[in-house]
Amino acid sequence: MHIVHVVGARPNFMKVAPVMRALECWDCVRQSLIHTGQHYDANMSDIFFQQLGMPSPSVNLGVGSGSHAQQTARILSNLETVVRDSRPDLVLVYGDVNSTMAAALVCAKLLVPIGHVEAGLRSFDRTMPEEINRLLTDQIADLLFTPSADGDENLRQEGVKPEKVFLVGNVMIDSLVHLLPIAEKSSVRKTLHLYSGHFGLVTLHRPSNVEDPATLASIMHALEKISREVTILFPLHPRTRQRLKTFNRQFSGSLIHMLDPMSYVDFLALQRFAKFVITDSGGVQEETTYLGVPCLTLRENTERPVTVTLGTNILVGRDMNRLSSEVGRILAGDRKSGQVPPLWDGHAAERIAQSIMSWNRPQRLVECHVERAVI
Ligand code: UD1
Repeated sequence: MHIVHVVGARPNFMKVAPVMRALECWDCVRQSLIHTGQHYDANMSDIFFQQLGMPSPSVNLGVGSGSHAQQTARILSNLETVVRDSRPDLVLVYGDVNSTMAAALVCAKLLVPIGHVEAGLRSFDRTMPEEINRLLTDQIADLLFTPSADGDENLRQEGVKPEKVFLVGNVMIDSLVHLLPIAEKSSVRKTLHLYSGHFGLVTLHRPSNVEDPATLASIMHALEKISREVTILFPLHPRTRQRLKTFNRQFSGSLIHMLDPMSYVDFLALQRFAKFVITDSGGVQEETTYLGVPCLTLRENTERPVTVTLGTNILVGRDMNRLSSEVGRILAGDRKSGQVPPLWDGHAAERIAQSIMSWNRPQRLVECHVERAVI
């Protein structure tokens, strides 16, 4: 069985690594990895491959940045030939980035079976490009691997057949469990002179937070205020760095430590020891829940509701007074306690591999595959 994994952006890499490792245990499986090139900077891509112990991609489509339409169109066009030539039995796509949706669409048109890892998540906010990617990918996938029961329920409501859906748990947490012992020994805190452990960690990259100068300014002013109480570390996504530069606002910067994007292991180490995390990322909401670290999310909604209902996540939205007061509460020792959601146990990828091995391919796909094989 030839399984092709398609990844493209930073949050995909920690999801594909454990799945590839789990599938290696099956002699009947041959695997290939395709990188769309959506993320291309060394510290947004290469370093993750090294730390996660992944093979180099057999193909890099080199699509790079651009508008959503341009990026998606390049993936569609470049990937079609590769999938047609390699004739996989199954293509696995991950998460909700443009590469996920574009790869799924290519495969659906070529009648190649698609498995979606991290299916069923919904923010119910269609202004988010990721929500469109999730909805479309799940409609055309043949196997849908969900991280939590809310995902199954969302798919049921959308009419997805239950026999296609597998509640497997969270593969992102598989990578975390795998590399946490190494992260705990990372020298990053020493390098950053964080001797006290009294620091907060910030990540921001969503267009809704960083594209509008007034919104970004209000967030930065709130962070500056907080940084008078506690050290703030802020690894900057390339877009955020560029916006801060373009807007040329007078953020003192001296109280907030602006850093380059970090490697997986170093960022995990900082999350593990942070007093709190402020973020608009999806994966960070999950990682903080697993680690039991308070997370303040600068979004009005989340596609990962278990991080709020069970975990340590609080949705602060754009209310900067609320952000300051929640940080004050945490620093005073009043932290939201949480629990780890079911099946976030480091073995989700093994359950995905098992499900694939026991999967009966729909007849139309088997027939199509035979047909293509004799062309
Ligand atoms: C993408 C995902 C988002 C995910 C995020 C993680 C989509 C729609 N969005 O957003 O869900 O949370 O990745 O980072 O797929 N850039 C570089 N170097 C790189 C990559 C990007 O400089 O290696 C800059 C470019 O200016 C680019 C901008 O970052 O235009 C945005 O990159 P893009 O891939 O379009 O989306 P992200 O914001 O990274």
